[in-house]
Amino acid sequence: MKFFIDTANLDQIREAQSLGVLDGVTTNPSLMAKEGITGQNNIIQHYIDICEIVDGDVSAEVIAVDFDGMVKEGNNLASLHPQIVVKIPMIEDGIKALKYFSDNGIKTNCTLVFSSGQALLAAKAGASYVSPFIGRLDDNSTDGLNLIEEIRLVYDNYAYQTEILAASVRHTMHIVNCAKIGADVMTGPLSAIKGLLNHPLTDIGLAKFLSDHKKGN
Ligand code: E4P
Repeated sequence: MKFFIDTANLDQIREAQSLGVLDGVTTNPSLMAKEGITGQNNIIQHYIDICEIVDGDVSAEVIAVDFDGMVKEGNNLASLHPQIVVKIPMIEDGIKALKYFSDNGIKTNCTLVFSSGQALLAAKAGASYVSPFIGRLDDNSTDGLNLIEEIRLVYDNYAYQTEILAASVRHTMHIVNCAKIGADVMTGPLSAIKGLLNHPLTDIGLAKFLSDHKKGN
């Protein structure tokens, strides 16, 4: 399972990268705004900075919602760095844009996916990644993990190559459960990734090993 970090915070991206288990980064306009990154030049420089920290794919989202605008913006984003993946919203013109980028060898991430029907369309359009937002479904009394299971079934039925990128991951058990049901990738906060480290028996066991070692020396 690939681990992406879902942030535009460079310190957190550096920390995740230093763990040695990071495969990529996802951003969105809200995450960029949260870090105070505004204005086209600053946004572009920020994407380049992120690409220089990590080894893997970096999703950069288009703001345009019409086909021509998405193509223009996506081509500009893709030209910034070979690691850029163009993030396209799940709307009608978005499907056309996914097909355009797929035909032109540019990687894409179809975002704001909330149903298996939408995921099927994204795969048929040739998206590299599909991003079902599991946390936002959970927020609306709908089991986000069920959607990952449904998409896994649909994609496996037809051997679609689109990777399932479980997004809107909020906590550690989301990651564990996504791994159990076969999501290809998860994107979540650093806290959820580092939460995988935690177990009290590890801490107790290590303290005992170290104190026994001290006694014996
Ligand atoms: C995905 O790429 C999105 O950036 C993200 O996972 C959304 O998460 P949120 O629902 O916590 O905002």
